[in-house]
Amino acid sequence: MSTYHKKAFSTRSIHTGEPADPSTQAVEPSMVLSTNFVFNPDEAGFSAETLDDKTPNVYSRWSTPTVRALEEKLADLEDGEDALCFASGMSAISALILGTLHSGDHLVLSDVCYAGVAELARNTLPGFGIEVTTANFSDLEAVTAAVKPNTRLLWAETPCNPILRLTDISAVAKIAHSAGALLGVDSTMATPVATKPLNLGADLVAHSLTKYLNGHGDALGGVIIGRREFLAKLRQGALIHFGGALSPFNAWLIRRGLHTLELRMRAHQDGALRVASYLESHPAIKRVIYPGLPSHPQYALAQRQMSNTSGMLTFQTKEDGMEVARRFYRKLQDFTYAVSLGKQRSLLFHISTDDILKSSFSLQGTALKSYRDFAGDGIFRVSIGLEAPEDLCADLDQALRIS
Ligand SMILES: Cc1ncc(COP(=O)(O)O)c(C=O)c1O
Repeated sequence: MSTYHKKAFSTRSIHTGEPADPSTQAVEPSMVLSTNFVFNPDEAGFSAETLDDKTPNVYSRWSTPTVRALEEKLADLEDGEDALCFASGMSAISALILGTLHSGDHLVLSDVCYAGVAELARNTLPGFGIEVTTANFSDLEAVTAAVKPNTRLLWAETPCNPILRLTDISAVAKIAHSAGALLGVDSTMATPVATKPLNLGADLVAHSLTKYLNGHGDALGGVIIGRREFLAKLRQGALIHFGGALSPFNAWLIRRGLHTLELRMRAHQDGALRVASYLESHPAIKRVIYPGLPSHPQYALAQRQMSNTSGMLTFQTKEDGMEVARRFYRKLQDFTYAVSLGKQRSLLFHISTDDILKSSFSLQGTALKSYRDFAGDGIFRVSIGLEAPEDLCADLDQALRIS
């Protein structure tokens, strides 16, 4: 019998990649800000072609000890072989897509996803000869129908931003693999506390580290996690040549945020469930979408695939959304009217359906009708922070009142 004991998530989130510093004996890691490193002339040359994963630190666009330690921790937390960090979530996702797909390749993308990715797919990828088809990733037949002989990558986001629709990762991984394509999953909203896409068959996982993984709203960052060999090529190509390297300062902050990720996610989930249930019975509210509520259209999948339903919820008001948004902006005290998500402070933001249409090239015909049926003229996207849920409910209640 094996004596191997895999340590718990919370233990690994603190200890992986953080031995005591042998040169100073400091218990908490120091930040290495140097942009370049002394190296033996036999170990590296001037071109990226001379570098491989055994090359020591040479220049900080390639790697630094502080960023590398974060990569080790992130790979461990996602049960992946390796991780590659970037300056932001968008930098990670665009480097992956542009560094992996070539002219003539085809991408299948979720028809609702983070606006930056949707706009990249609509405005930039066609100029590089990369073909894009979008599909509703909660509909397996639609995903299968979107795949073509030249499909190389399927890109899912679960829960997806902003409508919190879910993708069945194992089912979509089978579709991708039977077509000889890779499945990438943006798991920013779920975090590895909730879902481990690689264990469900995905090939790549992306996170905007800016969100829950850092958790305090003070550092941009992004990561791709997957096979070591694949990421070594991405480092040598897209990271070095597009240049979107993560700063050691941000890596240091994100590492510190990860120490409390599991604890924070538990509190985000508890708070979101309390606020979502409260809003569902509020007379001013038309509809609440939260994967932890039985009324979520994919509640059964959420229960099966997410061991934490996260802190994101959306709602629609009976009154015109923009009117309510103006009142929220003036009256809310514990919520901040701001974009972004996944931090200690609760955030709230109105997303009009017209805005979604601006960022999307795919919401036409039946897809547009199903989005409008779902979202009407707009939705409020809410990121529940770590404040007491009863204060958050009271704050929303006073701001919902017309006075
Ligand atoms: C799901 C998702 N993916 C990617 C991104 C982009 O991340 P970043 O803002 O770190 O570039 C965001 C940002 O909101 C997001 O919500």
